[in-house]
Amino acid sequence: MKILIVIALAVLIQENHATLVIKGPTKSVVAGESVEIECLYTDSEFNISQVRFEFSYDEGSIWFEVYERSTFCALVVYRTSERLVLRLRAYSYRMSMYRCVSEAENVTAPNNASEPWALKVEFMSDLTLSKEGYTKYLGIPKELSVRPGDDVVLTCSARSSEEPSYFWNKEGSDWNLPSATMMLRKVSKADEGQYSCTAQHPLVESLSKKSSVKIIVLEEDAPWYQSTDGRLILMTSASVAALLVLLLSMTVFLCRRAKRARTIKGPIDDHSQKKPIYKSSSESLPSSCEDKHPLV
Ligand SMILES: *[C@@H]1O[C@H](CO)[C@@H](O)[C@H](O)[C@H]1NC(C)=O
Ligand SMILES: *[C@@H]1O[C@H](CO)[C@@H](O)[C@H](O)[C@H]1NC(C)=O
Ligand SMILES: *[C@@H]1O[C@H](CO)[C@@H](O)[C@H](O)[C@H]1NC(C)=O
Repeated sequence: MKILIVIALAVLIQENHATLVIKGPTKSVVAGESVEIECLYTDSEFNISQVRFEFSYDEGSIWFEVYERSTFCALVVYRTSERLVLRLRAYSYRMSMYRCVSEAENVTAPNNASEPWALKVEFMSDLTLSKEGYTKYLGIPKELSVRPGDDVVLTCSARSSEEPSYFWNKEGSDWNLPSATMMLRKVSKADEGQYSCTAQHPLVESLSKKSSVKIIVLEEDAPWYQSTDGRLILMTSASVAALLVLLLSMTVFLCRRAKRARTIKGPIDDHSQKKPIYKSSSESLPSSCEDKHPLV
């Protein structure tokens, strides 16, 4: 058994023996920080001058060359006599795999490429608040007017490299809710105030985002359309109505035009009678419109 392990270990060491080595930060880096990745040959028999960097968006199924002269993207590649160095600013989109590859013809596997190395960037962005029953596409306004007795459910979420911890608090009170979702049941005037949600990255203390919303509770006799939800309904129905009117007037206009064209064309063009009329062709359009919109 012991011998087997020793043999397995020896095989492993043999296979991992790559002379082209890539090195980078051993811990994950925080978005915005500068990162240095370097390649070197552990064996002086090989020359670094024909080595370049490559990166992959996934686990290394497709590799792309890192162009040394791309000043775009805040990226610098330089060489010393023994090293090839890549310096870049860490961003969330730069989370990817890197490796070094030799272009020299007389260098073969495994010396022509390093092991892949993964850049892990910790980041947090785009904290958004959403309200149950309110469209996700608009984002909720900074001031929410609600009717007394309504339930208010607000959820906050951030884009982050690790699932953040969330908490809600209310300005001027020591109320604190350790959750992404805040639920106010049957709101009354006492619930009015400025509420904030904070998202905290679990590994990096400096990565945190905060967003707040003011909740205003309307009077008992306030009409429904004064609430934020009511205003949204009103706005949506107004746009739908405007769209319908537009569609209707366009249909009427097109029908009239088509009918006029037919009455002019009719007596002159004798062949029109012999032509088959397809259901979807423009010539079948006037008759179908005529039924619905008499033009007298
Ligand atoms: C590597 O090769 C280049 C030419 O391809 C040469 O100028 C340079 O001196 C070589 N470096 C070493 C360390 O051998
Ligand atoms: C590869 O060829 C270059 C000359 O083109 C030579 O300087 C270098 O020593 C060779 N490397 C190996 C590993 O044979
Ligand atoms: C390394 O060399 C081998 C042949 O020895 C080749 O098949 C392989 O594609 C090369 N790797 C890279 C990354 O160019």
